[in-house]
Order: sequence, then C-alpha cells, then structure tokens
Amino acid sequence: MLNFNYSIPTKVFFGKNKIELLADNIKQYGNKVLLVYGGGSIKKSGLYEEVIESLNKNKIESWELSGVKPNPRISSVRKGIEICRENKIDLVLAVGGGSVIDCSKIIAAGYYYDNDPWDIVVDPRKIGKALPIATILTLAATGSEMDAGAVITNPETSEKLGTGHPNIAPKFSILDPTYTFTVPKEQTAAGTVDIMSHVFEVYFSNTKEAYLQNRMAEAVLKTCINYGKRAMDEPNDYEARANLMWAGSLAINGLLGYGKETEWSAHEIEHELSAYYDITHGVGLAILFPYWMEYALNDDTVDKFVEYGVNVWDIDSDNDKYEIAKSSINKTREYFNSLGMPSRLEEVGIGEEKLEQMAKGATSRGTLGRFKPLEAEDVLSIYKSAL
Ligand code: NZQ
Ligand code: ZN
Repeated sequence: MLNFNYSIPTKVFFGKNKIELLADNIKQYGNKVLLVYGGGSIKKSGLYEEVIESLNKNKIESWELSGVKPNPRISSVRKGIEICRENKIDLVLAVGGGSVIDCSKIIAAGYYYDNDPWDIVVDPRKIGKALPIATILTLAATGSEMDAGAVITNPETSEKLGTGHPNIAPKFSILDPTYTFTVPKEQTAAGTVDIMSHVFEVYFSNTKEAYLQNRMAEAVLKTCINYGKRAMDEPNDYEARANLMWAGSLAINGLLGYGKETEWSAHEIEHELSAYYDITHGVGLAILFPYWMEYALNDDTVDKFVEYGVNVWDIDSDNDKYEIAKSSINKTREYFNSLGMPSRLEEVGIGEEKLEQMAKGATSRGTLGRFKPLEAEDVLSIYKSAL
C-alpha cells in the first residue's frame, strides 16, 4: 500500500426526508443562496417546491440558475458567477445530477477568480478560494456530491475537461434515494455504468497489494451488478436506489483509491466522445471500457483481470488465466448490454471522421494511465476497435 492523506470533508445526510436538515445547514454559511438546477426534472418531481418552501420558511433568500445541460457548458458557469457577484451570494446550492453539481462547483470557484472561469477548468492550479457548495442529489452516477472534481464542456473549442481542487468539495450533500425514483431507465443504466467505471479506474492498478481497497472496490461493483437492473425494472425500489446512491458516492470519494496508483484513462477517452458528440457519459463508458480492458490485457496485467473475474464474476479460478480474463471482460460487456447500453460507437452515431482528433485530444495533457500507459496511437486503436 502506498502512503496517502485521508480527507473526505463532505458531510452526508442520507435517507428519506433528510431535506429537513437543509435550512439549518445552509444557515451556517449565510442566508443568500444561488439555487442551480437543470432542465426541469426537479419541477416535475416536486423537489423544487420542497426546496423553495424550506428556504422561504427559514428566511433564506434565493436566486436561480436553471437550464444547466447534461455535459454542462462553460456559458452556464459564467452566468452563475454573474448572479453570485451581483447579489453577494453566500452559498451555491446544486439540486440535480452531476452536471448541475459540477457547474455549481466551478461557479463557486470562479466567483473568486478574476479572469474567465474556463482558465480554472483548464488549469486546476488556478483554483483558490471558493464559495461554499451544498448539493441535493437526484441521480446516482458521478459521485460529484462527495468529491472535489468537476467536468465542464466548452463547445467553442470542442473540449470537455476535468478539473478539481479540495476547495470545491461540497460542504454537505443530501442523499435521499426517493429523489432518484423518477430517473429514467437509460439514465439509471448510464449511472450504474459510470459508478462501475469509477471503480475500474482505481481497481485496475499497478499497486499489487492494498488488499482492503480491492475488496471494498469489488463490493461496490457487486452492489451495482446486484441493483442496477433492479432499479431499472422497479424504479421505486428504495433498497435498489439507496444501494446505488451510496455506491456512487463511495466509488469516487477517494476511499477506494487511497494507497494505490490510479488510472483514469478510459474517462479521458470518453470525455472526447461527449465533447464532440454530446453523448451521455455513462453510455460512452459502456461502449469503451470493455475495449479498454481488451487493450490493457497482457502478460503483465492478466493477474489483475483474473482477480476481477474470480472475485466479481465468480468465474472458476481453476480455469486458464487468459480464459478467466477474457471471460471477465465479456461478462462486463454482457452486463452493460443487459442494461440496454450499446457496445459499438456506430450505435450512437460515431464514425471514423473525428477519431484521430479525439485521440490527440485525449492525450493532450500527456500519456494516459500507468497500468496500461496510452499514447495517442493507442487511444486511436481503442476507438477503432469500438467502431
Ligand atoms: O436536467 P434535468 O431536467 O434535471 O434532467 C437530468 C438530465 O437530463 C436527468 N435527471 C437527473 N435527475 C433526475 C433526472 N430525471 C428525472 N428524475 C431525476 N431524479 O438526467 C439527465 C442527466 O443528468 P446529468 O446531471 O447530466 O447526469 P450525471 O449525473 O450522469 O452527470 C454527468 C456529468 O458529470 C460528469 C460527466 O462527464 C457529465 O458531464 N462527471 C463528473 C464527475 C465528477 N464530478 O466527479 C465524474 C464523472 O466521471 C463524470 O465525468
Ligand atoms: Zn464517470
């Protein structure tokens, strides 16, 4: 196990009706709030009313930024910063999925940054102070409710980039699984794939030991496998929604990656697809991850795939090593397909045209990964195999 510094500062209020804690916790930071949300799912579900009622009852003033799109745009961030500056906002309250939360994080940090906020997306070292952020999560997927990262899209440059800083970790997050009952099937599936992908990014690692983290990672994967389909078939199944929600937070809040070298290359490869084609993040991952696995499988890495196949998919450990490894990859793809996810780029309208550009884009900040280091030509091979 490698050395690490543990810090997961976000307070989590988990379970039914935890919204009752919203106002008191906001008031620790002030009484002027920017409420950030997306295209209206919170209005349909009734959550918007609940939030407004709680704010009004407790004399918390609020301003709104709505219409934050999936793959959130830098233009929404700019608008949010303006509202915060004009009204001397004390806290940014994100109510929604990862896109709304990520947008809120960069609004909060951009508030204190004098130039264009795209700078702090490109270069996380430019992030300094940030307004306090709180979240009410409505979709189990990104883990943004409990991590210090954000991913923002700039359509003018066809870039979708991740950034991060400890100062943008939410101060508190309300995780009430009933708010995810209304998540449509495809988003439930994409969210489940995203959670599993976050685990893969830290599970497939050169660090040979870290036994505890590996077993915890397998538990999160098994939770997704157990409950993903169930939540799709029974949207109001509280246990399924609750398990997925907590799995989503634990997958990426740092816990599983501490003490290990981590990978994060499939994510970079996927972000290019979303940047150029505006596809759903989890859908892109469902297509790409099995191809990344096939590309990463070799004599140096096979044992890790065996560990994965035996412990997660219960494949007989007496089988030949490569047979187990390949079968574990097939089972991953089959599981994603069983959730209705595609397995080829052409199924989501992506052809050969931009593959080279995207491969260069994915590696523009340097070689990806260490478990299987990838240069632009490797990324191109993965894209081509996924066509
Ligand atoms: O906009 P609304 O109307 O709210 O609808 C959203 C949106 O259309 C809908 N939705 C959310 N909660 C719902 C609901 N519909 C009905 N009922 C509910 N309860 O779902 C759609 C997708 O929402 P979005 O927030 O985009 O989804 P997700 O949470 O998957 O976030 C994806 C974004 O997060 C980034 C991704 O790249 C992508 O941009 N990521 C952020 C990470 C982080 N901060 O750590 C890590 C991830 O790997 C990921 O890259
Ligand atoms: Zn992800």
